[in-house]
Amino acid sequence: MHYDTSLNNHGLKFNPFKAIAVPRPIGWIASLGADGARNLAPYSFFNAVSDRPPVVLFSSAGRKDSLANIEATGEFTCSLATWDLREKMNLTSAPVGHGVDEFELAGLTPAPSRMVRVPRVAESPAAFECRYWKSVELPTAPRGETHTVVFGLVVGVYIDDAYIRDGLVDTGAMRPLARLGYMDYAVVTPEVMFTLNRPRVGPDGRTAQVDAGPWDGVYR
Ligand SMILES: Cc1cc2nc3c(=O)[nH]c(=O)nc-3n(C[C@H](O)[C@H](O)[C@H](O)COP(=O)(O)O)c2cc1C
Repeated sequence: MHYDTSLNNHGLKFNPFKAIAVPRPIGWIASLGADGARNLAPYSFFNAVSDRPPVVLFSSAGRKDSLANIEATGEFTCSLATWDLREKMNLTSAPVGHGVDEFELAGLTPAPSRMVRVPRVAESPAAFECRYWKSVELPTAPRGETHTVVFGLVVGVYIDDAYIRDGLVDTGAMRPLARLGYMDYAVVTPEVMFTLNRPRVGPDGRTAQVDAGPWDGVYR
């Protein structure tokens, strides 16, 4: 099948777009209102888009509290949403009133950050501390909501030392969640991870070969 996104003539029960743009990491975004009110919500239109400087972005469908808070205060954190925290993460997506603290709603502990005033989720094994860079409003589709992409510079990174082994982050042990389509999710575990070495280019610059086996620790 093929469909035209301006017509959305896919004929399926639901728009299939998000079931194909997978797996999406979940940014569990904490922010503070100008009045100091704490806020926490998951965003799966979220990703890291550069590592030097480290930059993340997320997209808000409509003007939600996270967007308004971050534009007003200039800071946010993104905690890693993991298998153990899946139900609490989901609870923090409830569209409760502005003054409601989703840390309290979901029984989560705010831990102080080092470089921003916004706390991170203490129960999460890793978090980014972010300084707001800019918002970009996306083109509005017919009958669509406004979508605003928020960019943040990651100024500090928290990692629970228990997940650092032999100088590497043990991502599989953290069991990060990924968002799929519909109400589906996936989880990264050691069993589903695999390694592929980058190709080495031959001396003539026209051939490439890949070394089998574990990574030799060199980025190519
Ligand atoms: C896993 C997950 C991912 C979500 N991703 C997004 C997203 O990318 N953009 C968005 O606008 N809402 C997303 N939502 C819905 C928001 O979390 C929800 O609207 C929340 O109430 C927003 O909170 P806020 O107003 O405090 O920012 C997601 C919900 C869940 C459970």
